[in-house]
Amino acid sequence: MISHRPFTSSVFIGTSLDGFIARADGDIDWLTSRGEAAGDTGYHEFMDGIDTVVMGRATYEKVLTFGADDWPYGGRHVAVLSTRLEAGADPRVTVYRDLDELVRGLSARGTERVYADGGQVIQSFLRAGLLDRLTITTVPVLLGTGLPLFGPLGGDVALTHRSTRDLGAGLVQSTYTIDR
Ligand SMILES: NC(=O)c1ccc[n+]([C@@H]2O[C@H](COP(=O)([O-])OP(=O)(O)OC[C@H]3O[C@@H](n4cnc5c(N)ncnc54)[C@H](OP(=O)(O)O)[C@@H]3O)[C@@H](O)[C@H]2O)c1
Repeated sequence: MISHRPFTSSVFIGTSLDGFIARADGDIDWLTSRGEAAGDTGYHEFMDGIDTVVMGRATYEKVLTFGADDWPYGGRHVAVLSTRLEAGADPRVTVYRDLDELVRGLSARGTERVYADGGQVIQSFLRAGLLDRLTITTVPVLLGTGLPLFGPLGGDVALTHRSTRDLGAGLVQSTYTIDR
């Protein structure tokens, strides 16, 4: 458990009803196609309050497939957690090898509000006590298998439900804060 940090961390993610954020091969077309049919998901408003994006190597590699001209994070600091990605290869991101190094680095930068993205990153943030808020958009599809949003924890994580709204097209978005 990492006890001291000057920033808050939030998740904003879409999942299948059975809790997968991507197919096993990383495909998210089932999400994007349904998301386009929904109304405003609140993503832009959420991003307006974020100064730093932390993602796992797998999510970073997915973002790279969007194309060089389609970097979705503007001038925000982008941190990629990876034990094997070459540091310094992409000037748009900073690679951190583990959570301790990440927390030290973000703290030194004066980070205030983090967006944590990628299933394994979210799971490791939860285990380390680094998450404060979860906004989860549930998409009306069962995938049966894939990359899970959640996984094993050191113990129960108690949440407080803050809101739920119907986004249209069968998408339902709920926000929870993590009890301390
Ligand atoms: N549905 C959605 O809204 C949504 C959102 C984001 C992503 N996605 C999709 O989800 C998939 C990726 O999710 P994922 O769960 O497989 O992976 P991920 O969390 O994006 O990346 C996993 C990798 O990140 C590194 N990592 C994670 N935690 C770490 C830690 N504490 N310390 C050091 N390194 C750490 C490791 O990289 P190394 O192996 O290099 O050590 C690990 O293999 C992609 O297909 C992406 O498109 C979907």
